[in-house]
Amino acid sequence: MWAIEVENLSKVFRKTTFGRRQEEWALKGVSFRVAQGETYALLGPNGSGKSTLIRILSTLLLPDAGRVRLLGLPLPQEERKVREQIGRVSVDAAFYKKLSPRENLLFAAQLYGIPPKEAERRAMAILERLGLETRRFGDPLEEMSRGMQQKVAIARALLIRPPLLLLDEPTTGLDPKSRREVQGFLEELRREEGTTILLTTHDMAEAERLAHRIGFLARGSLVAEGDARALKELAGAQDLEEAFIRLTGEAFAQEENHDS
Ligand SMILES: Nc1ncnc2c1ncn2[C@@H]1O[C@H](COP(=O)(O)OP(=O)(O)OP(=O)(O)O)[C@@H](O)[C@H]1O
Ligand SMILES: [Mg+2]
Repeated sequence: MWAIEVENLSKVFRKTTFGRRQEEWALKGVSFRVAQGETYALLGPNGSGKSTLIRILSTLLLPDAGRVRLLGLPLPQEERKVREQIGRVSVDAAFYKKLSPRENLLFAAQLYGIPPKEAERRAMAILERLGLETRRFGDPLEEMSRGMQQKVAIARALLIRPPLLLLDEPTTGLDPKSRREVQGFLEELRREEGTTILLTTHDMAEAERLAHRIGFLARGSLVAEGDARALKELAGAQDLEEAFIRLTGEAFAQEENHDS
């Protein structure tokens, strides 16, 4: 059984600007599969549709066309069951910002039926490993830096040890040491629990380190997929970044937009 099956997925955002209707095809007929226990990285420039795809798989957004099955369960029909089995991290993590990391994590654990003692033990172990100082565990989230909040979001997703993790830029904004720790965690989960992981990233080294297979997304389409070596070979490229640029015909927007 595949952990993730996506077939012909499309999503269009419609809006009206100055009285003119506009359509933005965030996803255009994307198909791919991820095996159980596999780690799959989605790479793509800003606006290529990565977050839209993760949001659809996380049941937060409905597609306009296409089919999705997670752990054999079709969306949106089995939405509730799917939610119980996925852990999600995103750069714009939703939290109760007046509450502390401890309170947020215990609340999440309760939703997933993890006993409070066990939840606290796991959460604290993760946060300590990520270098969040113990003395901050009781501070409201809104008083924490972005990186600190990101660590709490990661702890929340990993705490529940779900069979499937959907991670939208899980390490963006983390300092190098914390980023390594998160990558180490993900490797451990895969090895010890057989967790299936779909992640997006702008970090080529991260994709190469973690992913069995990589998919290149450009303008809403999956333009190539395979392991890092196959992608480099396909593009006749020295490294993954060069392969991406050749295969998608565009550089990362971040690097293009230097208008100074
Ligand atoms: N809620 C929305 N309403 C309108 N358009 C949207 C919405 N969400 C995304 N889009 C559009 O869909 C396209 C894909 O956006 P998406 O956030 O999926 O890209 P991304 O690959 O995650 O980019 P980034 O690397 O910057 O995170 C963009 O053109 C974006 O403007
Ligand atoms: Mg995004």
